[in-house]
Amino acid sequence: MNIVVVGAQWGDEGKGRVIDLLAKKMDAVVRYQGGSNAGHTVIVDGEKFVFHLIPSGILHPGKVAIIANGVVLEPAELLKEMEELRTRGVAVDNLFVSANAHVVMPYHKDLEKEEENIRGRGKIGTTGRGIGPAYADKIARRGIRVGDLLEKETLKEKVEINLKLYKRLLGYTYSQEKLLQELLEYGRKLEKYITDSSALIHNLIEEGKDILFEGAQGTLLDIDHGTYPYVTSSNSAAGGVCSGAGVGPRAISRVIGVVKAYTTRVGEGPFPTELEGEVGNLLRKQGSEFGATTGRPRRCGWFDGVILRYAVRINGLDELILTKLDVLDRLEKVKICIAYKFKGELIQSFPNRFSLWKECEPVYEEMDGWKQDTSKATSYKYLPLPAQNYIKRIEEIGQVPIHLFSVGPQREEMLSTRELD
Ligand code: IMP
Repeated sequence: MNIVVVGAQWGDEGKGRVIDLLAKKMDAVVRYQGGSNAGHTVIVDGEKFVFHLIPSGILHPGKVAIIANGVVLEPAELLKEMEELRTRGVAVDNLFVSANAHVVMPYHKDLEKEEENIRGRGKIGTTGRGIGPAYADKIARRGIRVGDLLEKETLKEKVEINLKLYKRLLGYTYSQEKLLQELLEYGRKLEKYITDSSALIHNLIEEGKDILFEGAQGTLLDIDHGTYPYVTSSNSAAGGVCSGAGVGPRAISRVIGVVKAYTTRVGEGPFPTELEGEVGNLLRKQGSEFGATTGRPRRCGWFDGVILRYAVRINGLDELILTKLDVLDRLEKVKICIAYKFKGELIQSFPNRFSLWKECEPVYEEMDGWKQDTSKATSYKYLPLPAQNYIKRIEEIGQVPIHLFSVGPQREEMLSTRELD
C-alpha cells in the first residue's frame, strides 16, 4: 500500500505528526517536493523534533527515508539536520538523497530577498529559504543538482554560468573558487547517501514494500492549484508525487488529506475566513500558531468548507485526518464557512481567479461550541456531542470520511472515529 499524505489547506495542518503515526506501519517515507521552507514538528515522549528536509518518518528505526528528486535542498541545512538527529540518538543510515534533487545556492536566497524588497507591500511573504529562485533555475535548466556535487568538471561549468548570470541580476558576484570548494566538500560528505531515488522507490514497490509519500506545505500553496502568486514554487498537491518522486500514478493506493479544525496561513495572500480579533488571537494562542521555520505568527480563521471541497477535488482525497480539535475547546460557538458570497451571488466552489478571492465573503454556518476540555478524551465516543457534530459536519461538507482526529500533540492523542463508519 502506497499512501500520499498532503496538506488540505495552506500548510501547517499537522502533517508531521500524522506522518509519524502512519510511518510506523510503512517501510519507507519519501519527501517529494519543497525544501527547508517546510517545518514538520513531531513530539515523542515530550521531546520536540522539527524537520525541514528529512522525512519525519526517520524517527522510527529501520525505515528507509528518501529525499526524492522533486525536493530542493541546501546541503549545509541537510548536514545540520542529520547531525542533530545523530546527537539525539536517531540513526540516519537509512537516509537516501536523490542525485536529481536541486541545490539551493546562496544567490537564490539573495535574489529572493531582492525580489521581496522590490515587491514591497505586494510581497509574497516567503520563508526566505531561496525556494522560488532554486525552482526557477531548475525549470530554466541551469540548476545545480545534488549529483553534480560529485562531478568537479560539470559543477565548475555550471557554477560559472550561474555566477555570470547572477552577477547581472544582483550586481555582485561570489568567489567562484570558494563556492566550488564548498560544494565539493558537501558532495564528499553526502556521497554515501546520494542515489537514484526513483530506481530505489521502484525496487521497494517491486518488493511489495509500503511507501508513504510525505507532502510539504498544502494544497492552497501549490504552484498550479493554489492562490497564485501567493504560493510556494512546487506542486504540493498529491499530483506532485509522480514527477517529484518518479513514480507512475498507478503506484498510489490512497491519498490522505490532513486538515486542521480551523484554518491558518503564514505569509501574504487571500484568506477568506481570516479572523483578526479576539477569536483569531485565541486560536493563535491555544494552537501555538507560530511558523515552525520562521517563527512568524500565523494568520488564523474559521474552518473553510469551500477550501476543503477544493482540496478533495484537486488531490482526489480518499480520507481526512482532522488535527487540533482541542484548540476550539473554549469557544461558545464555532463557525464553518460553507460558501462564499461574491457580488451578492453564492459560490459553492473555490473560484480560480485571483481578483475573485479578494472579494469573496465567507458565508458561515454557526454551531454550538463544546466548552469542555477534549484533550483528555480517549476515544471518539467520549467527545462532547457538539464536538462529534463538528467532525460529522466537516465530513458532510467535504463528502469525505474523517478516520482520525487529534486532541493534542502527543502520539497517543490521535484518536479514531471508527464509530462513525
Ligand atoms: P516559500 O515556499 O518560502 O517560497 O514561501 C511561499 C509561501 O508559502 C509563503 O506564504 C510561505 O509562508 C508559504 N510556505 C512555505 N512553506 C510553508 C510551510 O511549510 N507551511 C506553511 N506555509 C509555507
